[in-house]
Amino acid sequence: MATIKSILHETRIFPPDPAFVEQANVSGMETYHALCAEAEKDLPAFWGRLAKEHILWHKPFTRVLDETNHPFLNWFDDGELNVSFNCLDRHLDTQPDKTAIIFEADDGAITRSTYRELHHQVCQFANGLKSLGIKKGDRVVIYMPMSIEAVVAMQGCARIGATHSVVFGGFSAKSLHERILNAGAVAVITADEQRRGGKINHLKAVVDDAIARGGADSVTSVVIYQRGAGNVQLHVPRDVWWHELIKDQSDICEPEWVNSEHPLFTLYTSGSTGRPKGVQHSSAGYLLGAITSMKWVFDYKPADVFWCTADVGWVTGHSYVTYGPLAIGATQVIFEGVPTYPDAGRFWKMIQDHQVTVFYTAPTAIRSLIKLGPDFPGKYDLSSLRLLGSVGEPINPEAWIWYYTVVGQSRCPVVDTWWQTETGSHMIAPLPGAVPLKPGSCTLPLPGIIAGIVDEAGHDIPDGKGGFLVIKRPFPSLARTLWGEPERFRKTYFPEELGGKYYLAGDSANRDADGYFWIMGRVDDVLTVSGHRLGTMEIESALVASPLVAEAAVVGKPDEIKTEAIVAFVVLKGSRPQGANAHDIAVELRNWVSTEIGPIARPDEIRFGDNLPKTRSGKIMRRLLRTLAKGEEITQDTSTLENPAILEQLKHPIT
Ligand code: WT7
Repeated sequence: MATIKSILHETRIFPPDPAFVEQANVSGMETYHALCAEAEKDLPAFWGRLAKEHILWHKPFTRVLDETNHPFLNWFDDGELNVSFNCLDRHLDTQPDKTAIIFEADDGAITRSTYRELHHQVCQFANGLKSLGIKKGDRVVIYMPMSIEAVVAMQGCARIGATHSVVFGGFSAKSLHERILNAGAVAVITADEQRRGGKINHLKAVVDDAIARGGADSVTSVVIYQRGAGNVQLHVPRDVWWHELIKDQSDICEPEWVNSEHPLFTLYTSGSTGRPKGVQHSSAGYLLGAITSMKWVFDYKPADVFWCTADVGWVTGHSYVTYGPLAIGATQVIFEGVPTYPDAGRFWKMIQDHQVTVFYTAPTAIRSLIKLGPDFPGKYDLSSLRLLGSVGEPINPEAWIWYYTVVGQSRCPVVDTWWQTETGSHMIAPLPGAVPLKPGSCTLPLPGIIAGIVDEAGHDIPDGKGGFLVIKRPFPSLARTLWGEPERFRKTYFPEELGGKYYLAGDSANRDADGYFWIMGRVDDVLTVSGHRLGTMEIESALVASPLVAEAAVVGKPDEIKTEAIVAFVVLKGSRPQGANAHDIAVELRNWVSTEIGPIARPDEIRFGDNLPKTRSGKIMRRLLRTLAKGEEITQDTSTLENPAILEQLKHPIT
């Protein structure tokens, strides 16, 4: 580790290896600059060219971009396509027997599907959905474990034009219920159980609980994929087993042709208010972003074995598991389990066993694996690897260097990809055969992505000074709206204060003299916990929903592994608890949040006060709470506080 630390004091640059440059899809900075120049000269012409090259159109488009109704943009809007056709049928003549998916279960069992088989599976399932009366425009919630079937479920929806909304399997019944209601879903696709790290999670029981909470009358079908013993309560006629549903279905299903702007999916993500946002994506623009980034950033080659470790419950699992790799005809690995089971060598063993060439994971996973088994990668043959990727949060240079030297054996470029649920695909990331790497920087925007850093009034900020990260010009893969909440979309992402034209990402960033972007973190009340986005308000609402709690404020505290740990400052309805009682209530409240939202939102720490530090106008001073959470001395001015004495009570965590 001593050598790693010393490297950190240098500002090292890693230019691409000449051998890599030679074989790359985009070779050398000149080629990268030429692509950027083509886009800047005529943005619609640039994206129009790519859309013609990469997408199979049922009806070709004649218009590329319509900005009349800004920020509600239309791309390729007189064109028609089907996303599932673009992911599957297009490969049937050229490479039907190529492996599309290598699935490895938690216990190590392996299942494979070729493109032909996957096409059959998707068609049969799509016909099954149709037999339930599900049709174009209907919303379908998917609450499934990582599996080939999860991909089949999503692709099946896309095939018939139903809009899917995947809910991560770690979310609670309450969160699932909210999302079912918000979407007005007609069906839920789930499994009897999910297996991760040797543990079983009963997904179907959670679905039953969610629907029983009421108001979900729109749900007329629940489809259950049998992953385990099949011990579920069947509510007939609502519930149907996956295998029963597809039993007599044809394996041919004509795709439903949809408009370019047809909503392919919605995906809920956290924002600065208590209510999650239903981010709505298009069909053609979204697909184009997934395809171009597979080519540019992952330098996709037909011989690659691609592995993105993200769950399909997150956008990374949509763009780089379900859609991007299939659209481009890749062989990919899908994994049911966790990186630490049976031990911290699981990822490396799987890379060796499946000869993975391109590996994409999150800094939080890398950091926990460094901690648990820094030497584990050395036990496996990782020579198949040629490219490594990182996503979800800034990767600290120390973790970057370990990833680069120990996992990639100083041979594989590390692509640090900055993007968001809303952007649909990579925005700022190195093109590995062109852009020299700097550990900790996501480097330069992709061609066609016009990124900038501005102040509160939307004015450009000189390089070297931090500000708000914006994207100044439209790009095809951006979310189209928030499901049912267009005004919220406009206000959140295209605020008037910034002139209304720039997409405001919600991150602060810095740009150095070479034009490289360094992401500093969220500027809104959103926490990054193990690569997942959680709104502080969301956790606060969950806490105050407890009968014990009067008031709560949640902040993040830097954490070595998780990026941020969740610290909740709580005022109880009764008196401030002491000693063992405080401990017990803290445990109870942490579990409460876990049941309300899901285990990822469980506070790491709870502190009780008679009140919260507030200004005289009643505003909670979160900056002070952040300082307290870190255990640092308060140096800020506290003279505007209504109740400075409260700070003393909030200094110490409950033990
Ligand atoms: C937020 C978006 C993109 C898929 C996973 C997360 C942070 C994401 C990076 C990166 C620094 C990053 C940002 C962003 N983020 N990637 N490479 N470097 N920060 O999607 O849940 O929508 O979260 O994740 O803060 O705004 P998401």
